[in-house]
Amino acid sequence: MHYCSSPGNSMFCRNFMRPGIIQASLKTQKKIIAGNTKVARNVNMEKLRSGYLFPEISMREAQHIEKYPDAKLISLGIGDTTEPLPDIIASSMANYARSLSTADGYRGYGAEQGNKALRKAIAETFYRDVQIKETEVFVSDGSQCDITRLQLLFGSNVSIAVQDPTFPAYVDSSVIIGQAGDFEGKSRMYGNIEYMKCVPQTSLFPDLTITARSDIIFFCSPNNPTGHAATRQQLEQLVTFAKVNGSIIIFDSAYAAYITDDSPRSIFEIPGAREVAIEVSSFSKFAGFTGIRLGWTVVPEELSFSDGFPVINDFNRIVCTCFNGASSIAQAGGLACLSPEGFAAVCSITDYYKENAKILRNTFDSLGLKVYGGKNAPYLWVHFPGSKSWDVFTEILERTHIITVPGSGFGPGGEEFMRISAFGHRESILEAARRLENLYS
Ligand SMILES: Cc1ncc(COP(=O)(O)O)c(C=O)c1O
Repeated sequence: MHYCSSPGNSMFCRNFMRPGIIQASLKTQKKIIAGNTKVARNVNMEKLRSGYLFPEISMREAQHIEKYPDAKLISLGIGDTTEPLPDIIASSMANYARSLSTADGYRGYGAEQGNKALRKAIAETFYRDVQIKETEVFVSDGSQCDITRLQLLFGSNVSIAVQDPTFPAYVDSSVIIGQAGDFEGKSRMYGNIEYMKCVPQTSLFPDLTITARSDIIFFCSPNNPTGHAATRQQLEQLVTFAKVNGSIIIFDSAYAAYITDDSPRSIFEIPGAREVAIEVSSFSKFAGFTGIRLGWTVVPEELSFSDGFPVINDFNRIVCTCFNGASSIAQAGGLACLSPEGFAAVCSITDYYKENAKILRNTFDSLGLKVYGGKNAPYLWVHFPGSKSWDVFTEILERTHIITVPGSGFGPGGEEFMRISAFGHRESILEAARRLENLYS
């Protein structure tokens, strides 16, 4: 028997030899065969609908490569950065790493909240005009990780609202922590989550007059996937809505570096936001740090729970307990990004992706397809009226060998839309534009 490879040695085999407990052992054996352990699966994990969107796309991509091994696949899908890091930034990390091999340069744990100089540089670079203190900035290993830490901070008894469509991590982390009800197949929504429709008819912003109150409002601007950066007036409405309802906004500004017009880059540009908002942000798309892992979260001192307790104190506790600070090497890279030379180098790369977005936008425009986004974000949101977005995904993949992302993966409001990423080498973007022209012209 498999479990008795060393007879009489394992607990299972010893018990199996004693007649009095044979029956119990058989039951145990049955359970072991069914699942190896006696640990019940987390019911919240069971609730999660299917694979997370991007692993699902990766799986389909792998199947496609197997089917067409010679095809030149182009990815306008997952939204990963492609251009090499500026030398000044890579060198700063390499130098820091090298110094760790010296007696003088070696450092162990850093402050859980992040390197003081980096917290200061983040406050001064991104929040100079809105008076965020460096002590309100917590350096992280990426905003996705902090989204989950914030869920842990608020716990399972709060209600949440999300834009529909939006980045799937808010809903999935909410389900995992136990805030959500069951998934309803027909509406394709979880119970106990307020889905705020952000469709072209509502200017890609929620109609707050019909939005129910929630404790926590996740709000992403520029939004992934629609590419819409909320205007100042829209964000003023959002802050007022949160104030009236006593809600907390978790504002995700991961794509703020792509804003080209005068839309706010931070929620803290809106008066009153300090009392109702937290901001999560990232070096990932701003500086090509998707693999290096670096982000930050701003929790203002004024933000408090209903009993008056400061949220920042609890967030600090979560950071100290569930995280031990971002990699010191990544933080050295982050500091280099915020030096004058590093900042200019990083901005030239975001400009490159913005140019890609313009090329793709012109392509879809010329094909007569309605396209949103791409001006303040590295994503285009293309409408395919009457079509199911997974069907469009399959058609584009089969006929052009281009990976896109079906809009429905971002919520029911994304059906009939495709998200097109502008991250890519220029020649791939131009080639993708040619293939799409051939397919749709
Ligand atoms: C809106 C949004 N927030 C957060 C993240 C995660 O960023 P990070 O790499 O910092 O975890 C992403 C990644 O694509 C994103 O699109």
